[in-house]
Amino acid sequence: MSRILLTGGAGYIGSHTYLRLVEAGHQVVILDNFMNARDDVPERLERISGHPVTVYRGDVRDRVLLDRVFAEQAIDGVVHFAALKAVGESVQKPLDYIHTNVGGLLTLMAAMEAADVRRIVFSSSATVYGDTDIQPIPEDHPRTYASPYAYTKITGETALEQVAAADSRWAVGILRYFNPVGAHRSALIGEDPGDIPNNLMPYIAKVATGELPKISVFGDDYDTSDGTGVRDYIHVEDLAQGHVLSLNALIETGQSHAVNLGTGTGSTVLEVIRAYSAACGRDLPYDIVDRRPGDVAVLTARPDKARDLIGFEARRTLDDMCRSSWAWVSGQIANS
Ligand code: NAD
Ligand code: WQD
Repeated sequence: MSRILLTGGAGYIGSHTYLRLVEAGHQVVILDNFMNARDDVPERLERISGHPVTVYRGDVRDRVLLDRVFAEQAIDGVVHFAALKAVGESVQKPLDYIHTNVGGLLTLMAAMEAADVRRIVFSSSATVYGDTDIQPIPEDHPRTYASPYAYTKITGETALEQVAAADSRWAVGILRYFNPVGAHRSALIGEDPGDIPNNLMPYIAKVATGELPKISVFGDDYDTSDGTGVRDYIHVEDLAQGHVLSLNALIETGQSHAVNLGTGTGSTVLEVIRAYSAACGRDLPYDIVDRRPGDVAVLTARPDKARDLIGFEARRTLDDMCRSSWAWVSGQIANS
């Protein structure tokens, strides 16, 4: 058993990872400023896990707070989720993104160094591969950025790699998520985007609940099986398990790794709409509209390195992802 600090642990992926870590026998401490999390997430985590939740409310860029957390809790390792994550918004507000995502990581690493804690799992993204025809993408594909958000992830990865290369006491797990979707099997936590989501699955969910009238499918003239974009959707509970395996590998071996977390299989936009329609029990309406600027046709993970290095394999299907999302969003509507 280890004691793990989760920055951004009240957010979408962080809250699911919290539950998997507790199930795996770890003690977990959350630090979150709740700028993108609901206030009742800790209470919900307590209900699901049956254990009290330790939460520090505050900013990951606050060095005084970080020093206090490390002084009060005997932390063995950190999973760093806290970040801003909207690609489009990052183009409008690059400084906010650089300050939070890069500044936050650097402040955290300095506090870790001072506290003698040198095990960290970092939330990275497939966005670090840029626009490429090589599919599925292996981890040694060159990194390139097409947005300030992607820049912050490449910079974060590079900072961690440099520190680990210079000092063998550091072990870093860089996890490049593909398209995380779905919700916890309890239907008590899930993704909670704003009024008009940017991403496909939460948008479909709002059409399914009747909050939005129709899905816009961004282009049907790509070179794919039905012309719509292909992505590697991964269930958030599988993703959460990836963090447990990454942390265990860091703690057990002291070796760093950088791996894709995806299924290795792509689905088209129309396949996702069909799977969601089956999950919610009605055919969801959609229109084909223009391509979204900046979108690539296909983005899928080569998953073997994660399997070989940390023993990760995604198990849940697209139907599981849609059913769990629908259980979460329909439950929210029923309780509102
Ligand atoms: P999220 O917004 O739900 O979670 C992030 C959490 O961090 C939120 O609870 C937010 O309140 C908190 N936070 C933000 N800024 C903070 C700060 N300065 N100090 C303290 N807490 C702060 O997002 P998510 O989808 O759970 O993403 C988690 C991580 O995974 C992020 O680093 C994101 O870039 C990365 N990621 C997400 C996706 C995705 O599609 N969701 C894909 C690839 C990578
Ligand atoms: C998926 C597919 C769209 C919305 C983004 C970030 C990436 C990562 C995950 C953080 C594409 C199509 C979408 C809609 C549609 N985040 N689509 N109608 O763009 O693969 O990845 O989230 O690291 O960095 O870029 O995800 O869900 O927006 O799109 O047709 O209303 O659905 O064109 O083919 P994306 P997405």
